[in-house]
Amino acid sequence: MAHKIRAAITGVHGWVPEDKLTNADLEKMVDTNDEWITSRTGIKERRILRTPGWATSDMAAEAVKGLLEKTGVKPGEIDLLIVATVTGDMVFPDTANTVCDKVGATNAFGYDINAACSGFLFALATGAQFVVNETYQKVVVVGADMMSSIVDYQDRNTCVIFGDGAAAVLLEARRDGTGIQDFVLRSDGSGRVHLHMKAGGSKCPPSAETVAQREHYVFQDGKRVFKFAVEGMVSTVQEILRRNHKTIDEVNWVVPHQANMRIISSVAEHLHFPIEKVMVNIHKYGNTTAATLGLCLWEYQNQLQKGDNIVLTAFGADSPGALCT
Ligand code: COA
Repeated sequence: MAHKIRAAITGVHGWVPEDKLTNADLEKMVDTNDEWITSRTGIKERRILRTPGWATSDMAAEAVKGLLEKTGVKPGEIDLLIVATVTGDMVFPDTANTVCDKVGATNAFGYDINAACSGFLFALATGAQFVVNETYQKVVVVGADMMSSIVDYQDRNTCVIFGDGAAAVLLEARRDGTGIQDFVLRSDGSGRVHLHMKAGGSKCPPSAETVAQREHYVFQDGKRVFKFAVEGMVSTVQEILRRNHKTIDEVNWVVPHQANMRIISSVAEHLHFPIEKVMVNIHKYGNTTAATLGLCLWEYQNQLQKGDNIVLTAFGADSPGALCT
């Protein structure tokens, strides 16, 4: 039977810094403790990028280099490279083009997608279009964030949650029924009040005052985001299943954004899906924003089989989504 052309993930690779920030380390920095962090978030440690002069593009470049080695693709064969990130090296130019330069992808064009924790999903869905339309043959999608560069290590509400990391996937065309089947992406810009970085953009450019007010850091209303996350992830997964005439029993893996173990467990419960089939690595890396989904796929790659039904789901400040492959 002839299948329609689909964009398939044909390789995945991740990279995290070696330096760990443990709950015991955080106990010395803010008024918190291992028991609170473990029971409220499921996080035990996160990775922090401390290599002098390194930034998000360097983590992304390491992930891409590993991906190319693994897949046997030469840098010059990459047609398009997308980086999902909220912590690009600079406000401009795009981090994607810096990554292309660092890995020698001289024939690629690149751009960034800024959709916070939903960034990887949005980038996958976007990159897949170029493959399905046969505009490009080899598209690399990277999720990379150096959250330690925008986290306030005096704020216990946020500093226990985030970490640094990067993951990259290769998208190529397949006509055998495998590949990305569908996606459901949503946005609600009104959610910005609950999760944002106040200063540094055109609304509130950097000044001595914004620095003094500690406005160049992540702000979040944790409780509001929590509720939104569970509702958004559950409803988008249910919608994608309904649209594709599948039941949850036919799903082999759910790959949720890693923001809080309680969010992940709650999503699994609402979906009536066994937690053993939910990819989890939050205890090791915390929330690496755009990198979480790719890092999960990387760590679980040996357990995956061709033809598995995998549902990826994420949420950001204002944008939940699900993608099934
Ligand atoms: N250590 C100890 N106590 C802490 C703490 C910490 N690290 N962080 C917050 N607390 C305190 C609060 O100050 C509060 O104290 P109070 O009752 O005296 O005011 C108490 O713990 C409860 O805080 P609350 O915010 O209600 O806790 P919570 O159960 O909602 O957990 C989060 C907080 C942030 C872990 C949780 O809300 C969460 O994960 N939200 C989603 C965040 C997220 O996903 N962000 C990324 C989006 S992609």
